[in-house]
Amino acid sequence: MKRIGVLTSGGDAPGMNACVRAVVRTGAYYGMEVFGIERGYDGLIAGDIDEIGPRDVSDTIQRGGTILKTARSTAFLEKEGFERAIAMLGNFKIEGLVVIGGNGSLSGAVDLKKAGVAVIGLPGTIDNDLPFTDYTIGFDTAVNTALSAISNVRDTSNAHERTTIIDVMGRECGDIAIYAGITGGAEIILVPEEPVDLDDVCRQLVESRNKGKSSSIIVKAEGVDIDSNALDEEITKRTGLDVKVVVLGYIQRGGSPTAQDRLLASLVGHKAAALLHEGISGKTVGVRGGEVVVDDIEKAMKMKRRPRRDLIEMARTLAF
Ligand code: F6P
Repeated sequence: MKRIGVLTSGGDAPGMNACVRAVVRTGAYYGMEVFGIERGYDGLIAGDIDEIGPRDVSDTIQRGGTILKTARSTAFLEKEGFERAIAMLGNFKIEGLVVIGGNGSLSGAVDLKKAGVAVIGLPGTIDNDLPFTDYTIGFDTAVNTALSAISNVRDTSNAHERTTIIDVMGRECGDIAIYAGITGGAEIILVPEEPVDLDDVCRQLVESRNKGKSSSIIVKAEGVDIDSNALDEEITKRTGLDVKVVVLGYIQRGGSPTAQDRLLASLVGHKAAALLHEGISGKTVGVRGGEVVVDDIEKAMKMKRRPRRDLIEMARTLAF
């Protein structure tokens, strides 16, 4: 291929810029023209597309957000918008497209593939909920941001002998809660993959206090089917403990990407451009067992994720 496009779509994730940079520079290295598409599928539909060269991505590897901007496009889900997006690729003579995004964005990429577009899907989301890769771009940074918040909250929880519920993102996936919870020494981790047993939660908190712990941290994923404030009320009512809620929200999506995220982004971005250069498309690129893996995009999006029950079990033991 001689001309490729790249877009970021859905929620921004730290490392997206490092990934765009890798696509742009690898594309240029192989003599391809690379076009940056703004605001995800919305920008593709609108034709907000410009050539982007190696120097345009200088000084971006360390930046959070996305220089291409992003959007959750509703127009792309409509027949008219979808067809306009494909027509626009033709107008700009873009032969191959790299989509960096999460579940919804990569499902869009599957639809494009089915319509005959040469696409490569890359995992860009803090949620770590994509089945074809062990880690997604932005996950490690989000975990570290949550971890830093847990460490701060632990200090004040200890000082006031409190229980604090820390509400983290992740949609229907508990990985941010699990990784930040384990590394932050949380007493309890609540994830959407496991039913919440309120009696058990309260029993653990009381036991913890009786064992001499002066504070408790509960890390709760946003996808758990009890709201953090409702959980606070229940625990207070049943145990009499002093409970506070901290909702971390969008601070988890911003910030400079960690080394891990920059590396992952660089690896998959480089591979995507190299595949398109060879004329290979209809794939996802991820990492499994430390290796870069390339999968058929339709099969990749149908793979099953294994919930990390083993890690939740271990966290329970470590909170003893
Ligand atoms: O997918 C990333 C994510 O941050 C989720 O963890 C969260 O549920 C969602 O996006 C929030 O989306 P929005 O930016 O549309 O509020």
